[in-house]
Parts: sequence; structure tokens; C-alpha cells
Amino acid sequence: MDAFTYRDGELFCEAVAVEKIAREFGAPAYVYSERALLERYRAVAAAFNRYLPTTVCYSVKSCSNVNILRLLAEAGSGFDIVSGGELFRVLQAGGDPRKIVFAGVAKTADEIRFALDRDVLLFNCESEAEVLTINDLAAAAGKTAGVALRVNPDIDAHTHAKTTTAKKENKFGIEFERAKKFIAAIAALKNVVLRGVDAHLGSPINTVAPYALAAEKLLDFLRAAPDTLTHIDIGGGFGLRYHDEEPPEFAAYAQALSPLAAAGKRLIIEPGRSLIGNAAVLLTEIQYVKTNGEKTFYLTSTGMNDLIRPALYDAYHFIWNVKTALPPPSRLFGNDLAPPAGLSPVDVTGPVCESSDVFAKDRLLPPARRGDLLAIFSAGAYGFSMSSNYNSRPRPPEILVSGNRYRVIRRRETYEDLLRGE
Ligand code: LLP
Repeated sequence: MDAFTYRDGELFCEAVAVEKIAREFGAPAYVYSERALLERYRAVAAAFNRYLPTTVCYSVKSCSNVNILRLLAEAGSGFDIVSGGELFRVLQAGGDPRKIVFAGVAKTADEIRFALDRDVLLFNCESEAEVLTINDLAAAAGKTAGVALRVNPDIDAHTHAKTTTAKKENKFGIEFERAKKFIAAIAALKNVVLRGVDAHLGSPINTVAPYALAAEKLLDFLRAAPDTLTHIDIGGGFGLRYHDEEPPEFAAYAQALSPLAAAGKRLIIEPGRSLIGNAAVLLTEIQYVKTNGEKTFYLTSTGMNDLIRPALYDAYHFIWNVKTALPPPSRLFGNDLAPPAGLSPVDVTGPVCESSDVFAKDRLLPPARRGDLLAIFSAGAYGFSMSSNYNSRPRPPEILVSGNRYRVIRRRETYEDLLRGE
């Protein structure tokens, strides 16, 4: 069931009218549905485990609020981290270090020491030099570290140019054939054990073919791997419906990867967007309605500093009035029906002094007035986690809804917060 629905022309998150939240906490505000997140977590875990034993390691970078991480930890999730800061968050949330995989191309010695100290499951290594460094640091700490080689399978997953990772020209991973040759050198190192192979392919990937191809390549790699290797990490990247995409079901991705079952290893998946993406909206308030020649602008209280995806990737986010006599066509994200009459094209923009501070151009929307609220949908992933204080704008609060209850999981920043540390 959708967590965000219109009832009598008004948007609800679970059983709470989002306008109530905006009245209490102001807008902009991120509003998350606990149910939507946990349903997706359980769905992905169940779909993959039907095909092969799988550990879900939620990708912390997609939304890293410690309260969100705690919900996932309590549900049994592991975590994919890329920094010491993310490790700190996961530990604070009660995450199990034995379900943490540590990725990232340029881990510092401090970050590696921190992760060694907490005995994380895997260091996903992106270069030979990194493996050697981890070996040295592990020796100094009197530990043995589990490492995985992140291979670069040279697969074009047809993502946005800024989110592609698995092609030869990207900085990620070790060239496939070179990684195979490096296996013998790892065996000679005393303080690391080769426990995994990893290949994140990009994000979002709205077809299963790249995964099927990666499975083939990984099986090839595994033929050269020692028995110590127990985990195959395929990364994240599963698609999400922002607009008219038809991303495969989790089961279809799992099926595409099912040939890996022949290897008798445990699969790790690192979904972020597909779990949290549609579990939140970003509420914004129209400050002014302005016309310039033919054009109409809804000038809102939310800026590119709060949600940078449209400015950075030309990303599409569905937007609709929170209260309207014209509920969205079809289901919430559906555009398979003709739009209702009474809509007109507007640009939805923010207040930031950049011409890329635009959330939608020439978007058909119901009429609105100063003070009306809009909801920017699919804002859960890479929304708050990529926000900044640009233009010295305090960041919005994050509110978590569960049934008919809601609570602040991050308060709105204050002006004093802006100066902290300066
Ligand atoms: N694992 C690794 C190694 C990754 O680099 C990523 C995402 C993920 C997992 C999670 O991918 P997901 O399941 O969330 O698609 N800021 C961009 C997306 C950048 C993705 C970076 N890596 C956006 O807003 O679209």
C-alpha cells in the first residue's frame, strides 16, 4: 500500500495529514514514512533470499539519519558505509559491525583504523595499494582484516553520466583481469584475508541485464578465488519510480543474479535509493507566485541546498499541491492517464541565487497561491543526505511518521548552528 496518498484532496503520510506537520514544524521539511521504508526493506530481503542467501547492507549515503539507521538495524539490516562518519552513525544506531561493508576509493589511515577496531565484516578495496595499506594497519593493530576486491567489470549500466561506476574510465574498482592476478599476492599477506568480491554497477539501473552480465563475470572471477572467499557483493543501484520509469521488481533483479547461487557463497546487496527513495516527501511553501511574460513561477521556500538532485542531475521529482481539488492523475506517480483539465505549466523554483535552483520546468500543476504547500516526492534518497547550508540556509527538519504518530528525527537548524565551528 502507498504510504503517501490523497484523501479528499489532501495529502497524507500514512494516517497523518502532511499539512499538519508543516503547520507545526514549518516548510521546508522532510517527511518520512516508517512503514514505506520497512516494507521495502522486508521486500528486498525476502525477494533475494528466495534465490540465494543474502545479507542486505543498506547504503547509508542515501539517507543517513541515525533514527532511520536504527529502524533498519532493528529490522536486521547490515550497512554499506563509505566513511568514518558513516561508521560512527551506524554504530550509534546499534548496527552490527559484522554486517558492515566499508567501501570507498580513498579511505584514510584513520578511517581504516577505526573500522579495524570495530571488526567490520569487509573492507571493499578499490586498489592494490589500499589492500597493502590495510594489511600494514591491521598488523600494527594485531588484527586480521577481511577484504573484498572491488572489480571494475567494464559494464555500461546506462545510468546518468554522473552516477555511472562500472566502466573502465571510472575511478572505481580494479580492472577485472588485474584483480584476478592480484589474488595470489593477497594470499602472501599475513593480516588480510580475501573474503569477498564486489562490483557495484551504478545507480539507478532500471533493467536487470547489467546484473546478469555482472553475475557471469563474477563467476569467472570466483574460479580463480581461494576458499576463504565467502561473500559476493553486487552493490546497490536497483531502480525507483520517480516518474514514468518501470523499474524491475526486486525479484527480477534477484533472478538475474541467481546464477551466482552455483558458487555457494553469500550474496551482499547494498540498496539505498530503492528502499528509502519513495519513503519521503519534501514539503515546501509557495512564497510568491510570479509571472514573467508567458511564464509562471512558483517561488518556494525550498532550495537546491535542501534537495540538489534536480540541479545536479536534471533529476525528475514528481511535485503536487498538498491540498487540491485536482488530485494527481492516476495513482500518485502515474502519468498513464491524460492530465486533468485545469492544470497550467509552471516553473517550481527555490530562493537560492543560482539559475539551476529549479525543481521543475513547465510542469503542469493545479493553480496555487502564496502560502500553499507543495510536496516534492521521492525525496528520501540523496535528499537530506546531500543537503548543505549554501546561501547560509539552515537545513530543514526531518519528521518520521508511523501510523497516526509522528516525531522529529532531526530538528530544523538554527542560525546559531550555521556558525558552529567557525
Ligand atoms: N553501493 C555503492 C558502492 C555505491 O556507490 C552506491 C551509490 C550504492 C551502493 C547505493 O546505490 P543505490 O541503491 O542507492 O542506487 N547521488 C546520486 C546517486 C549516487 C549513488 C552513489 N553510489 C543520486 O542522487 O541519484
